Amino acid sequence: MPDDARFLPQYDSYIETLFAGEDAALREIRERALVAGLPEINVSPSEGRLLELLARAVGARRVLEIGTLGGYSAAWLARALPADGKLVSLEIDAHHAEVARESLRRAGLSALVEVRLGPAAESLARMGADEPFDLVFIDADKDGYEGYLKQVLPLVRPGGLILADNALGAKHVASGAKTGIARYNAAVAGNPGLCSMMIPVFRGEGSVDGLLVSVKTG
Ligand SMILES: C[S@@+](CC[C@H](N)C(=O)[O-])C[C@H]1O[C@@H](n2cnc3c(N)ncnc32)[C@H](O)[C@@H]1O
Repeated sequence: MPDDARFLPQYDSYIETLFAGEDAALREIRERALVAGLPEINVSPSEGRLLELLARAVGARRVLEIGTLGGYSAAWLARALPADGKLVSLEIDAHHAEVARESLRRAGLSALVEVRLGPAAESLARMGADEPFDLVFIDADKDGYEGYLKQVLPLVRPGGLILADNALGAKHVASGAKTGIARYNAAVAGNPGLCSMMIPVFRGEGSVDGLLVSVKTG
């Protein structure tokens, strides 16, 4: 195996082939989204597997996702849940929500996943902390991330995870501009109630982004 950044695509496919091969149901969810005209901005299979792994590692029974799109990451996360588990996924776009619901139904995951339509900030404001989440995955409008962090902190159990996608996206952090992602990363890094680390992830064909992983310690 070469040890040079020029070979990132080979590392990417090596890791995906070994650890994150899609089965027919996952492939169908991705393909249905494309056919329905949804943008191809879902997580990669490698990141999907990482989400599943993290959900399993914390024994997740209740998961919250912000940004459903076609239900691809929701499917990876839902597969980590026990039969009586629950994933609530928030989506602002009615067409995306409709495609996701049907794809998740076809994948046999409807009993586990509820797609809630509306702006995430409004859906979050209606949630109580009486049934806390074990894991939250933030993957929606980047300018909203910092606000979502404030809203989800009381909704996550101590020891639970808050995950944020695109946290290392070049356009978001490399320029040094105070983008929504840069503000989110700084807020997380400076929060004494969180233990956090950036995990670089492959996004297909060797391009790299980051999943910012935070454990709620306080
Ligand atoms: C990057 S995609 C999510 C990808 C999905 N997590 C996956 O990997 O399969 C972002 C989604 O967030 C939704 N979104 C954007 N702004 C939102 C908001 N304010 N509230 C809820 N959803 C929003 C978009 O419509 C889009 O479907």
